[in-house]
Amino acid sequence: MIVGGVVAMTRQRVIGRGGSLPWRIPSDLERFKKITSGRPGENHAVIMGRTTWSSLPNQFRPLPGRLNYVLSRTPALALPGAEVHENLESALSSCHLQSVTHAWIIGGREVYSAALELIQILHITWVEADVEGDVRFPEYGLAEWRVVNEVKHMSEKDEHPTTYVMLERPL
Ligand SMILES: NC(=O)c1ccc[n+]([C@@H]2O[C@H](COP(=O)([O-])OP(=O)(O)OC[C@H]3O[C@@H](n4cnc5c(N)ncnc54)[C@H](OP(=O)(O)O)[C@@H]3O)[C@@H](O)[C@H]2O)c1
Repeated sequence: MIVGGVVAMTRQRVIGRGGSLPWRIPSDLERFKKITSGRPGENHAVIMGRTTWSSLPNQFRPLPGRLNYVLSRTPALALPGAEVHENLESALSSCHLQSVTHAWIIGGREVYSAALELIQILHITWVEADVEGDVRFPEYGLAEWRVVNEVKHMSEKDEHPTTYVMLERPL
């Protein structure tokens, strides 16, 4: 099973504001869907914190075509469409049992922090703007990671230009 991460952040590492995303970048949401859904024959899961789950619009909760895992220290929480686990290890064990091929860590900050050491592939969308926010991606050295792919993107529909990079942790 591959454990990967997906994040959109500014160069100052801002990822959120007031419990949601501080930008509207439809092209990135499309990319997120493609990465975390995978190809036929694969079995993808998304693992997120309770706050991130709450931030999803009703029509995307659960995220379709993927197993949805939510971390909460109140594991008795009933979230229709999601499996709730009280820690990352328990969620990943369940992924193994369900023959998940790709487990995607999709935030927020607390979950990225818990998972960073386990992440083998990281998809980052750099939002090329100075956006205010109250949640940041953890301080983490990415310099030694290998850049596999880098694409600059600007579309009329996107609020800000972006640079998408895929990073692999060196073996
Ligand atoms: N830009 C991006 O790519 C991106 C991606 C995701 C989220 N975001 C943004 O980030 C913000 C949310 O992030 P956040 O850090 O505030 O919250 P979060 O990580 O989504 O959720 C925090 C909650 O999840 C549970 N949790 C987290 N880690 C856990 C662990 N290791 N074990 C057990 N439970 C755990 C706890 O829930 P309980 O309180 O129930 O115990 C905790 O209060 C929002 O603004 C969202 O829009 C941005």
